[in-house]
Amino acid sequence: MKRIKVKSLLSKPLLGSEVLVKGWVRTKRGNKNILFIALNDGSTINNIQIVVEAASFDENLLKDISTGACIAVTGKLVESQGQGQNIEISASSIELYGKSDAETYPLQKKGHSMEFLRENAHLRFRTNTFGAVFRIRHAMAFAIHNYFNDKGFFYLHTPIITGSDCEGAGEMFHVTTMDLKNMPHNEDGSVDYNNDFFGKETNLTVSGQLEGELGALSLGDIYTFGPTFRAENSNTPRHLAEFWMIEPEMAFYDLKDNMDLAEDFVKYLIRYALENCREDLEFLNSMIDKALLDRLKFVVENEFVRITYTEAVSILLASGRKWEYMVGWGRDLQAEHERYLVEEHFKRPVILTDYPKEIKAFYMKQNDDGKTVRAMDVLFPGIGEIIGGSQREEQYDKLLNRIKELKLQEKDFWWYLDTRKFGSAPHSGFGLGFERLILFVTGMSNIRDVIPFPRTPKNAEF
Ligand code: 4AD
Ligand code: MG
Repeated sequence: MKRIKVKSLLSKPLLGSEVLVKGWVRTKRGNKNILFIALNDGSTINNIQIVVEAASFDENLLKDISTGACIAVTGKLVESQGQGQNIEISASSIELYGKSDAETYPLQKKGHSMEFLRENAHLRFRTNTFGAVFRIRHAMAFAIHNYFNDKGFFYLHTPIITGSDCEGAGEMFHVTTMDLKNMPHNEDGSVDYNNDFFGKETNLTVSGQLEGELGALSLGDIYTFGPTFRAENSNTPRHLAEFWMIEPEMAFYDLKDNMDLAEDFVKYLIRYALENCREDLEFLNSMIDKALLDRLKFVVENEFVRITYTEAVSILLASGRKWEYMVGWGRDLQAEHERYLVEEHFKRPVILTDYPKEIKAFYMKQNDDGKTVRAMDVLFPGIGEIIGGSQREEQYDKLLNRIKELKLQEKDFWWYLDTRKFGSAPHSGFGLGFERLILFVTGMSNIRDVIPFPRTPKNAEF
C-alpha cells in the first residue's frame, strides 16, 4: 500500500478506507486494553490519532512505542468517538522503524525553553512551534520565486566566494586554502595571496548586489536569493553571521519605483502567508504572540509611511525622549530610534529615504545637495530594518570619485565600473533579509529560531 501524508488524509478523509501512515509519536496514552497514539509526520501541524486494541498486538511492540519513536501504521479510517479530532485510524498493523529511548529523548515534556530547543536544534523540528516556523519559511521561499517569476524577473545565481566587499564595511569571512600557521608575506609585511587557491584575496559574499547589477543591466529585472555572510560581532536577536537575502535589481527604476516594489513585495508575501499557512499561523498566534494575526493583517491593509532621514531626525529630536544613542543629523539611526518611529510615532511600517552619504555604501546615487544619497530603509514593527536598498549611482565619474573618497580598491571594482562606461542606465534595487521577514511573519522573537541551524558569534554547532 502507498503511504499517505497526514495533511492529505485530513483534507479529504475517505471514511472506511484502508490507509498507511508513517510518522513520529508525539504522545501515547490509554490503559491496558486500548491505546491512543498521536502521530505527526511533519506535513501539517495536526496529528492523526491512532487507536490500538492492545489485545491484537505484541505487548513488547506496544511498550517500545514511546514519544519520539517512528512507526508505520496500517488501519481503517473511521469517525472518532472521542473529543479533539473528527477522524482517527483504527490500527490493524504497526511496524516500528525506530525506537526512542524514553529515558534520554530530550523532547519528553511540553514547554521547553527556546534556549533548550536551540541546543537541541537537531530535534526541535519535531515540536509544534518549529514545525510551524519551518513550514512557513518554506512557503515564503516559494512565494518569493512566484512573485518575481510572475513579474518577469530572472533568478540570478551570484557567487558566494568573491573578491570584493559590496557594503564596504569590512565584515568579511576570509576564504583561503593557505596554511594559517605559515602564511607567506610580501616585503611590506602584508599577506602574499599569489599562491593562494584563487591567486588573490577572497571572502564569503556579504551581498550579491554588485553582480546582480551586472545582470539587471542586460536582463532588465533580476533577483538573487542566497546565503550571505557577515563577520559582525553583533549578538542581538536580529543578527546572524550567515543569513539569506533576496536582492531584486531593476533597470530603469528610480527610488520611487523601488519603494513601490518593496512595499508591494512584502505585502504580497504576508498576504500569501495569511492565505496559505493559516493553521500554522493560528497556532503561533495562540502560543507565541497573541497579536500576530492582527499585526499581519494591519500591515497588508495599510500604506507604509514614506519620509526622509532628515524629517525622521526632526521627529526624534522633537520627541522629548531620552535616547541611549544620541540623535543628530549625520548620525546613523539605532534600533531604538527606528522602533520609536514605527511603533510609537507612526504606528505602521515606515520607509526612510535620502540618508547622509557618510553612513551609506559607496554605490548609492548621490543627490544634488552633495550631502545625501538615494537610499531607502524599510522599517517594521518589532523588527526595525527589514529591507535596505537604493537607487544606484549610474554616472561613471561620480561613482569613481566615491570609491576613491572611501579609499576602496579601485582595481577590485573594474568590472563594476565598466557597466557605467558601456550603456549605463538608471537602476535601483534592495535587499530583504529573509530571516527578518520570517521573524515578522511568525511572531518569533529571536532570529536564531527562524533558521534551521543558526550561525552566530561563538556558535556553529550542527
Ligand atoms: O542593508 P543591507 O546591508 O543591504 C545590502 O546588503 C544591500 N547590498 C542590499 C541591496 O540593495 N541589494 O542588508 C539588507 C538586509 C537588511 O535590511 C536586513 O534585513 C538583512 O539584510 N540583514 C541581516 N539579517 C540578518 N543578520 C544580519 N547580520 C543582517 N545584516 C543585514
Ligand atoms: Mg542596511
